[in-house]
Amino acid sequence: TDKPFVMPAPHPKERRVIFENISKEGYDASIDTYLAHGGYESLKKAITMQPSAIIDQVKASNLRGRGGAGFPCGTKWSFIKYDDGKPHYIVVNGDESEPGTFKDRYILHFDPHQLIEGLVISAFATNTRLCYIYIRCEFPEAARIVWNAIKEARARGFVGQNILGSGFDCDIYVHQGAAAYICGEETSLLESLEGKRPYPRIKPPYFPAVLGLYMKPTIVNNVETICHVKHIIRMGPEEYAKMGTPGDGGTRTMCVSGDVMKPGFYELPAGAVTLGELIFDICGGLKPGRKLKAVIPGGSSAKVMRADEVYKIKVKGADGQMVDKEVPMLDVVMDAASLASVGTMVGSGGVMVMDDSRDMVWALNNLNQFYAHESCGQCTPCREGSLWMKKITTRMMDGGGRAADPAELKSVADNIAGRTVCAFGEACSWPTQSFLAKFPEEFDKVATSGTPVPVPH
Ligand code: NAI
Repeated sequence: TDKPFVMPAPHPKERRVIFENISKEGYDASIDTYLAHGGYESLKKAITMQPSAIIDQVKASNLRGRGGAGFPCGTKWSFIKYDDGKPHYIVVNGDESEPGTFKDRYILHFDPHQLIEGLVISAFATNTRLCYIYIRCEFPEAARIVWNAIKEARARGFVGQNILGSGFDCDIYVHQGAAAYICGEETSLLESLEGKRPYPRIKPPYFPAVLGLYMKPTIVNNVETICHVKHIIRMGPEEYAKMGTPGDGGTRTMCVSGDVMKPGFYELPAGAVTLGELIFDICGGLKPGRKLKAVIPGGSSAKVMRADEVYKIKVKGADGQMVDKEVPMLDVVMDAASLASVGTMVGSGGVMVMDDSRDMVWALNNLNQFYAHESCGQCTPCREGSLWMKKITTRMMDGGGRAADPAELKSVADNIAGRTVCAFGEACSWPTQSFLAKFPEEFDKVATSGTPVPVPH
């Protein structure tokens, strides 16, 4: 995987910033290639700035976290008190596991120095001397590549003691996970890093910014988020912010999978396209003869959207005031605010497209299998409930449905959400709640038909 990777030519609507270099012919993960493409110039600039000015620039850029929750990055950093006399840590979350999300692994494999440069700038801004890059165990090659890149960066003075003669010291270590989805949850990741069983911690009080790794102030950021930092310094926050929307600066990487002609990941200015443009224009539309049925717009825990439904969005009226407008699903804009306003989320950018060949009980059962397997088991509603939902949808799939199943599924899901330590509880109940709400007729039919649902190949 450290061989050059050939990305297709960008679609005219794409704006490659994070993936600009990776797209270039012959680009590889070595430091010489990175330096030949302007690498570490942002670090050279940042290291001459006041750390607080870097945080101000990240705030002004309107960069939101790209891991899924979309928390404003500059605000998260400003929770760390620069001179509190405590050790600080930055932990890069490279545990990318959200079904439908596959962007960070390309960065880790093909542009590790972009991550390291962003990380050292972030560390300088927050007075952090030790950083960890937590990489999921299913990416062993990525861990090797990133370790090698750290070694190269250290040899050239970009990592380690007295970085670029500034007096600032910062080291970076790679830590490999052990194949548990829950380790992508930030507090569980920290437990894992401390060598413990990865049970999530209760927030509050354990917001990492306050009580993080070894109970010290810690920033946990996604791989892509940290990469954006280098570009904010390079372009300046205004130019960077301008690429996106007022509340969602820069570019967003959308990973599109499922029933489209050209699945893949696409880097787009935040809010630049609608769902319809993404599916039909950029991803080449559906397979011949097929009709769109449903879309999960932001990773498996985002609520499913129904293609033939009308959604209420906010638009600017003639008098400049925001007014409600009803639009078809395909006209909903792909940015954080728009998707939130229609009851779902942009999340980690994993867009899953389903055409009319997909059975919704099959699709939900697929997700339920995943969540039941990945529940860490700490909280009873999640441990028991996710398994219970999986058992019901599996029985329905096998032709053993009962008329009461949809109501029972809803009841179980409703009793998980809001009753667990971490957001996994919501993540595993939202698919069931939303599939039942959007496709009740399909669930009722399977519950009463007594025939198995065919499994697609
Ligand atoms: P969250 O909303 O609880 O937190 C977001 C971030 O803001 C965290 O870093 C948190 O520490 C910080 N934060 C929020 N309020 C704070 C406060 N008052 N003080 C200090 N810090 C504060 O969301 P969470 O649980 O971190 O993430 C959930 C999302 O993760 C889901 O929506 C899902 O999209 C995504 N996800 C992504 C995966 C991936 O592979 N990329 C895997 C699984 C989930």
